[in-house]
Amino acid sequence: MTGNVKKAELHCHIEGAASPELVRQQARKYGADVSGFISGDSYIWSDFTEFLVAYDGAAALFRSQDDYALLARTYLEGIAAENAIYSEIFVSPDHAVAAGLSPSAYFDGLAEGIAQAKASTGIECRMIIVGIRHLGAEKVEAAARLASTRPHPLITGFGMAGEERFGKVADFAGAFDIARDAGLGITIHAGELAGPDSVRDALDHVRPSRIGHGVRATEDEALVRRIADEGVVLEVCPGSNLALKLYPDISRHPFDRLRRAGVKVTLSSDDPPHFASSIGREYQMVADAWGYDAAELTGFTRTSLEAAFIDEPTRAILLGQLD
Ligand code: ADE
Ligand code: ZN
Repeated sequence: MTGNVKKAELHCHIEGAASPELVRQQARKYGADVSGFISGDSYIWSDFTEFLVAYDGAAALFRSQDDYALLARTYLEGIAAENAIYSEIFVSPDHAVAAGLSPSAYFDGLAEGIAQAKASTGIECRMIIVGIRHLGAEKVEAAARLASTRPHPLITGFGMAGEERFGKVADFAGAFDIARDAGLGITIHAGELAGPDSVRDALDHVRPSRIGHGVRATEDEALVRRIADEGVVLEVCPGSNLALKLYPDISRHPFDRLRRAGVKVTLSSDDPPHFASSIGREYQMVADAWGYDAAELTGFTRTSLEAAFIDEPTRAILLGQLD
């Protein structure tokens, strides 16, 4: 039923989009062992901390410009086959540098894959540089400074991922000031591993137009009203939230509650193969849970495109594809 619906996602970590199959191929190329974090065709982890180990293990096997071109093209062609017309990927120069690649080779490789997927399917993609919270405020500020130089035309936003329980949002406010002053779109992971206070701090100190996850704001009704009133868009990733055990099943997930409270909600896959997900499966899961019809599902895509960190002419073309 959802197959024909045009889709968009705003929240996908490119290293987290590498399938176990592709990571095994990379491991063969570099003579590496993946048995610590992949078994059969699945990643192995049981909580967020172990998830990060698997994520970093996979990322360490993308070491060249060509490797990143292959990763971006494979991911984008996969979601284009599910009728996705737009994606924003989180890109982490810290992961590239840890794998021995310069940030410019990393961005160029990703951009090559983006161009190849656009040529073969028409899908549009932009990149959001993220700082990694648990690496500390200095590293996040360095990522923001790099982003502020506008190192590639497809880089249009800045965000922060990683362990939300590390430090306070205020510690990272300076990084976001740098990125905002450079005219980049701003998003931040909050309200995933930590509760409403983390979301409130993000709104107060970072003033993002979008929040990654934000679902745990539902533990505070006044905060949900504030998010709705301020028009802040939530990048909701239900499959990720279920896999990380924030909620026991989709019927208990707050996506529909947030929508009914007037919050602008969108759908994304986060780190799809880690969560047995894809943007197509996210749309199907919420349609099955709450009976949305094609018009309502397309509405989530419209909200994503309206909130996208993209130039206005391209936004208009993408929105035109929904008619
Ligand atoms: N990095 C990759 N996936 C993440 C998630 N779900 N939360 C925070 N940081 C991440
Ligand atoms: Zn995320």
